[in-house]
Amino acid sequence: MTTREEAAERGKQLREEIDHHTYLYYILDSPEISDAEFDSLVRELQELEQEYPELATRDSPTQRVGAPPSEAFAPIRHRSRMLSLDNVFDEDELKGFLNRVRKQVGDIVYVVELKIDGAGIALTYEDGLFAYGATRGDGVTGEDVTANLRTIKTLPLRLRSKEPPAVLEVRGEVFMPKRSFLELNRRRQEEGKPLFANPRNAAAGSLRQLDPAVTAQRNLDVLLYELGHIDGQRPAEHHRFLEMMKEWGLHVNDKRVLATSIEEIMDFCREWMERRDDLPYEVDGAVIKVDGLELRERLGFTSKAPRWAVAYKFPAEEKTTRLKDITINVGRTGALTPTAELEPVFVGGSTVSRATLHNADEVKRKGVLIGDVVLVHKAGD
Ligand code: IVH
Repeated sequence: MTTREEAAERGKQLREEIDHHTYLYYILDSPEISDAEFDSLVRELQELEQEYPELATRDSPTQRVGAPPSEAFAPIRHRSRMLSLDNVFDEDELKGFLNRVRKQVGDIVYVVELKIDGAGIALTYEDGLFAYGATRGDGVTGEDVTANLRTIKTLPLRLRSKEPPAVLEVRGEVFMPKRSFLELNRRRQEEGKPLFANPRNAAAGSLRQLDPAVTAQRNLDVLLYELGHIDGQRPAEHHRFLEMMKEWGLHVNDKRVLATSIEEIMDFCREWMERRDDLPYEVDGAVIKVDGLELRERLGFTSKAPRWAVAYKFPAEEKTTRLKDITINVGRTGALTPTAELEPVFVGGSTVSRATLHNADEVKRKGVLIGDVVLVHKAGD
């Protein structure tokens, strides 16, 4: 027989162990136990919490799904505006940005990161506990999607820190990995449901589900990249803050560099423009940011975007074009596949003139007609 105290002690131990292995698995990418061993820890905790429901604390790893569906999302006003970024499209335009910064603050260090193509979010932790999270909305007010965010396995419900900041707001991107997106659309097609146009729409749609149980099945992920607000020790540099976030157990992208010259920045941009198909998620560019947080304050903002950062956009993977014809291809097995013959369009770094329409039902369901303007989305090669 376990006493209540023994159960509470074991529950605490299990929660800590599960959090530790979740961190090793999702944040550091280096698991130390097998999936089966992990599952058995979770099962033991679930059984314990069933027997002693008071042990199921809000930050327990068993509590990711459990909130009832809601009728609508409550508005959350952001502590500071969630702005967007100015874009540059080539080296010359990037040079313009770097020159403007140099004129104001001299030669400085930049952090170059990948620009994740997802949905912007702001997460607030109070005394280390995940308190609430909001979508970007119109930049001033977002929607409270806390219950849905709690279902994301890479989002820690408690920060790994003995002395967490009293209030911490971090900003980042919720996204759907490419594989999950393809799998989701494959399933939806089988079920005759409308398909998502791209992983970004799928991520945004999944985040705004009224029933968190649906979001939980969508395999969303999150990467954090900015400090929104901190009541506590503020780091002096952005790259230091990224390291701090990782130590706290927040999911941070390791694919980034510190750079002091346009050559170093362009090397990073070129590398990922070429290798973007190797990434498990979609990116639409790189973000070049001033590293020093005090320098950022000196540079300030325009009405729309910070003067201390810029997005270097990669060629779009989505373009519109005209459907010229629908032809029928006969496969090796005799299966008939309707194929869209398109007005050639340059998308995602190559020219596309044909796309599969899968089968006659899909053509009917989509209601595509010759002469229509269609959206071409390139997913990998
Ligand atoms: S920094 C003040 N870093 O791109 C703006 N944004 O087009 C600070 N995004 O609204 C944003 N990856 O939703 C930043 N590594 C990254 C990003 C990133 C994706 C999104 C973000 C932003 C949008 C601007």
